Amino acid sequence: MSQMETAMSQPETAMSQPVIGVFDSGFGGLTVLRSLVERLPQAEFVFLGDTARLPYGSKSQRTIARYAAESARFLVEEQGAEYLVIACNTASALALDAIAAAVSVPVMGVIEPGAEAAAAATRSGRVMVIATEATVASHAYAEACARRGVLGLEKACPLLVPLVEEGWIEHPVTEQVVQIYLRELLAEARNGGGNPDALVLGCTHYPLLRGVLERNVPPGVAVIDSAEATAEQVAAAMSERAAGSGQRPAEPKVRCFATDSVAKFERLGSRFLGHAVGRVELVDLGG
Ligand code: DGL
Repeated sequence: MSQMETAMSQPETAMSQPVIGVFDSGFGGLTVLRSLVERLPQAEFVFLGDTARLPYGSKSQRTIARYAAESARFLVEEQGAEYLVIACNTASALALDAIAAAVSVPVMGVIEPGAEAAAAATRSGRVMVIATEATVASHAYAEACARRGVLGLEKACPLLVPLVEEGWIEHPVTEQVVQIYLRELLAEARNGGGNPDALVLGCTHYPLLRGVLERNVPPGVAVIDSAEATAEQVAAAMSERAAGSGQRPAEPKVRCFATDSVAKFERLGSRFLGHAVGRVELVDLGG
């Protein structure tokens, strides 16, 4: 089943505001939530960061699928989410089918919208994708790009998530790590005779590093954020029900849950969300 097949259908009731569940392994998905809140100011959002079990990016498909399905069930069955946005590339790449089987609401992942945005941006037909080890090993991006006639060159960047989770955004160590990864990726692209002109941020943590990445990609390489592309697709699917109609509430209606480190979530989450995350509730999903 592809992500497009599981994309949201038009809701039946026109007036009530939807409850949208947004899920990530950690804080990274807050970058998707931020884009969603901008585009769907009337909607209610429930966000879950499975911080106790982060990182997903170095785990097996079986474990990622189990964690992601449990998280999805929490959002739908206990928090009343009517739609689910999987704001994690790793879970989208390895567990979208398991999530869709675990819940009875529409599910949207981030890979297809990211690949779609990359295909729209590239002129050379070659794009670079940086992501976690698990996402790269799944080749979900390369396959999604290939379906659009684009060659996707993927590279795992496992050090970036811990750097972002540590809050080392504008930091000399992060700058150096980014430079090394990009140098290796560009060398590989050139050895393959390619001329990539886009870099896809294939992990929802990476938009936080957009400034560092933009400084270090060669001129003419567009940086594509799958978080923005996903939020646009969700907003397009739900526009009549939630976007623009009525007055924009003073405060976005967002409830956040985490499976661990609530204090850290409250402290760092605002960087991802662009405003205070408020009180984060601790939830136990088991081991
Ligand atoms: N935010 C996750 C993603 O988009 C990466 C974090 C993790 O490894 O759990 O892939």
